[in-house]
Amino acid sequence: MILPSILQSAHQWAAKVLVPGGIAIDATVGNGHDTLFLAQQTGPDGQVFGFDIQKQAIDNTYKRLVHNNQHHQVKLFHCSHHQMQEKLPEQLGGNVHVVMFNLGYLPRGNHQLVTKPDTTLKALEAAIYYLMPGGLCTVALYTGHPGGQTESDQVIRWASSLPSRHYQVMWQQFVNRHQAPSLLIIEKR
Ligand SMILES: C[S@@+](CC[C@H](N)C(=O)[O-])C[C@H]1O[C@@H](n2cnc3c(N)ncnc32)[C@H](O)[C@@H]1O
Repeated sequence: MILPSILQSAHQWAAKVLVPGGIAIDATVGNGHDTLFLAQQTGPDGQVFGFDIQKQAIDNTYKRLVHNNQHHQVKLFHCSHHQMQEKLPEQLGGNVHVVMFNLGYLPRGNHQLVTKPDTTLKALEAAIYYLMPGGLCTVALYTGHPGGQTESDQVIRWASSLPSRHYQVMWQQFVNRHQAPSLLIIEKR
C-alpha cells in the first residue's frame, strides 16, 4: 500500500517545511511520537515546544525523547494547548515552521480525557498566529469517540472560514472507511 495513514501523512507534509534549526510546536504530545519526529527534523539547533494536560503524556514523551537523545531542544508544558500564548516566548510569533495537533484521547491512557472543541479552537487560533509564512499546521481529527464528531465538525467549520488570501486549507480522508480519521492541513501564505 502506498497511501499513507493520516499520521504518516501529517509527518510527510511537516517534513516538507521543517529544516535543521527550525521551530515546531506539538500541541498534543500524547506518547511523544510526533514530538520525537519534530525534534529529529529540527535537529540539535532547533526548538520544539510541547503541550499536554496529562502528566502521564508529558512523562511518556520525555522518556521517549531521552531514550532517543532528542530531549535537549524540547520544552514540555504540562497544561492545555489553549494556554500556549502564556507559555511561549513572544518572539516566536510568525516564526514557527510547523504546529501539530493530534486530537482525541491518549492511546493506552484515560479515554475520558479528550480534547474539547472550545479549547481546541482557541489553541488553533493561537497556532496559526505563530506560523511563519509558508508554515504548516496539521490537525488529525477523530470521530469514533464520544464528542469526536462534534469536535471534528467545529474544527472543519472554523478552518473553512479562514480567509483564502492568508491561508490555504486542505482536508484529507479515506472515504471508504467507517469513521476514518481525517487530516486538516493549514498553510499560512
Ligand atoms: C491522540 S493523543 C496525541 C498523540 C501524540 N501526538 C503522539 O504522537 O503520541 C491526544 C492527546 O491530547 C491530549 N489533550 C487533551 N486535551 C488537551 C488540551 N486541552 N491541551 C493539550 N493536550 C490535550 C491528551 O491528553 C492526549 O495525550
